[in-house]
Amino acid sequence: MTSRPLEPQILAFFCNWCTYGAADLAGVSRFQYPANIRIIRLPCSGRVSPKFILAALREGADGVWVSGCHPGDCNYIEDNYYARRKFALLVNLLTFIGVESGRVQFSWISSAESTKFVRVVNEVTDAIRALGPAARFVKHPPQALEGQSS
Ligand code: FES
Repeated sequence: MTSRPLEPQILAFFCNWCTYGAADLAGVSRFQYPANIRIIRLPCSGRVSPKFILAALREGADGVWVSGCHPGDCNYIEDNYYARRKFALLVNLLTFIGVESGRVQFSWISSAESTKFVRVVNEVTDAIRALGPAARFVKHPPQALEGQSS
């Protein structure tokens, strides 16, 4: 019998130049933070297609977290402004299709902000944990897996 873990599984898309650096610095500094995130490093938050986020939710992630450079600090000049617009539209789409908008979180964290990284990873994990396991828009929702043998 397959059972869902009690802890949320969160896919995180981090910009290489800022939030990924903050996560690395937090690790080097031996700061403790929840181990619920799996990080995918990208060159910029602007590289994150809404399709990536929808695919993650479809495949069973309980939440998705996108974090990049502060607006105005993007290495690609204005790509995180485009990202911010895409994410605002995506939140509307998620609401329309019945997915709790809180399952997708966005933040801006520079590479020097390791303490902010730890605070935000706790906030993101708590917010997604409070929503419980994802059930809407998931290809194989938890109820569908209960009848299957492993
Ligand atoms: Fe970091 Fe664009 S380079 S968000």
